[in-house]
Amino acid sequence: MAESMKGLHRSHRCTEVSSSNIGQKVTVMGWVQKRRNLGSLIFIDLRDRSGLLQIVFDEPKVGSQGFAKAEALRSEFVVAVTGTVEKRTAAVNENLKTGDIEVIAEDIRILSESETPPFPIEENSQTKEDMRLRYRFLDLRRPDIQRNLMMKSKVSMLLRNFMEQEGFLEIETPILTKSTPEGARDYLVPSRVHPGSFYALPQSPQLFKQLLMCSGYDRYFQIARCFRDEDLRADRQPEFTQADMELSFVDVDDVIDVNERLLKYVFQEAIGVEVKLPIPRMTWQEAMDRYGSDKPDTRFGMELVNVSDVVKECGFGVFTGALGQGGSVRGINAKGQGTMPRKKIDKFVEFAKGYGAKGLAYLAVNEDGTYKSSFAKFMTEEELKALVERMQGQPGDLLLFAADKDKVVWDVLGALRLELARELGLLDKNQYNFLWVTEFPLLEWSEEENRFMAMHHPFTMPMEEDWDKIDSDPGAVRAKAYDIVLNGTELGGGSVRIHQDDIQEKMLEVLGFTKERAYEQFGFLLNAFKYGVPPHAGLAYGLDRMVMLMMQCDSIRDVIAFPKVKDASCLMTEAPGAVDEKQLEELALLVQQAEEPDMKME
Ligand code: AMO
Ligand code: AMP
Repeated sequence: MAESMKGLHRSHRCTEVSSSNIGQKVTVMGWVQKRRNLGSLIFIDLRDRSGLLQIVFDEPKVGSQGFAKAEALRSEFVVAVTGTVEKRTAAVNENLKTGDIEVIAEDIRILSESETPPFPIEENSQTKEDMRLRYRFLDLRRPDIQRNLMMKSKVSMLLRNFMEQEGFLEIETPILTKSTPEGARDYLVPSRVHPGSFYALPQSPQLFKQLLMCSGYDRYFQIARCFRDEDLRADRQPEFTQADMELSFVDVDDVIDVNERLLKYVFQEAIGVEVKLPIPRMTWQEAMDRYGSDKPDTRFGMELVNVSDVVKECGFGVFTGALGQGGSVRGINAKGQGTMPRKKIDKFVEFAKGYGAKGLAYLAVNEDGTYKSSFAKFMTEEELKALVERMQGQPGDLLLFAADKDKVVWDVLGALRLELARELGLLDKNQYNFLWVTEFPLLEWSEEENRFMAMHHPFTMPMEEDWDKIDSDPGAVRAKAYDIVLNGTELGGGSVRIHQDDIQEKMLEVLGFTKERAYEQFGFLLNAFKYGVPPHAGLAYGLDRMVMLMMQCDSIRDVIAFPKVKDASCLMTEAPGAVDEKQLEELALLVQQAEEPDMKME
């Protein structure tokens, strides 16, 4: 019995009605959150995206037909109610924005009925995420998700505002394009007109924004959709949104300056958090040495300490062995954790192994000054004393050590530091610690590919003072690259770009591109560089991540309307899916029968 809304006009959203409307007639429309039937009175909580409003049905006021309709209401029915706003007669609800008023219904129309939803539409849902994602259209009705998406909309507006005021132009770049080398796998789209040829969906607008600089657009920005076929995690999606920018005639400090003001403005306006400027800066080397991570969470201490020189001649083979192979020995001091039971320590040892550690050596300083340790027996009293002293170990502390190649030690202790902080409750979600990490290495050695790869991307400018090492010691060349980190998450990253064609060609050579392949892949950019190119630099934020941190969500899926799950599928639409034979034929594609692991065998 769905009725039309002909002749009706919504006067307010639910929570736009307030005590200032008492005595006035309003028309509100929304979903039935809850219905309570007290016999002569029926109450409903009406919900729209603004929140809840209590409606009261009293037969003499709403008429017998209206009262019958109210009796028929169930959860998630869509209704329009016209009535008069009154001060609440019964208990005022302090938790509700509209808790001091109610609307006494004079007319009701049922605009649409609803089947019983598969899970309750409520805040802090206990329903499994799989189920919620299958019915995402219902899940999106929940107030917490609605708040997240409203915040995302607001942040986009604020970004646009700020960029406009700073003289940036919003320019769109193609989605059907050529591969951009950001280091992930591409999503490919087959061409019908050119059988056997493929577009790649952009991993970022990187090359196009550089071309826009070549074309004189000076300050560009875009809220850009990006696509990366990579392993998903809590803060990664295969398609996500960047707030992307590029500027001409600038160097590192200029980009940092405009972005610090951007962050201050956006965080203040969006969530009322004051970002103190200037944001601290740390080189990549310092970040690795102190935190074992290029995105340090600086909300707590427990920094890494290099003890290599203290243990280099000790009797513990694990330590000296790692040093002998060019590695290091580093530790962290878990303050006051010296009485941690052996079982729990073993759990951390296993955790460390998950990050590539061969083991984790520990030493607890007992209250009486003796030690409980997995390696003390291999060391002299003096060696132990020197080690504890370097770690600033006090009675009651637990010292944890890893010995290996630097990279392994950083990974292990960096991850362990965070795990301990989580376990010990040291992470304050209301604290927003921003940090610039600068001077990243230009290149990183890939064991898998057996060659150097660009750490950021192949268009990143090396630091002038390191360029002479490009042939002799490529791994030691630092880049004019920077990341903005918030509470241990990489919020954004960028770099100054190479604008000289000789440096660019050399860089591509170091990365193992032949001249032919380089021209085949990004000839258009290399050509553009021959016709007058301004020095330029830029940065891109992960917009989803920004909103995720602002709203203190644990998953990026909570800030994306229709996200994908771990295997990159969408549980609601069931994408990706098979296509018609005819479509394949048109695209000149032959599909190899992939074996579905869980397919039933006849
Ligand atoms: P980068 O690859 O560092 O740089 O990406 C910039 C920011 O985008 C976000 N991000 C992601 N968010 C969600 N899911 C993903 N899969 C994902 N991948 C990246 C991160 C990251 O900091 N073109 C360069 C920018 C530049 O140099 O100007 C680029 O894309 O928050
Ligand atoms: P083992 O002699 O192998 O029994 O190791 C003695 C102690 O050193 C154990 O507590 C191991 O967990 C630890 N250990 C082993 N390898 C390493 C390593 N690479 N770094 C730190 N500790 C280690």
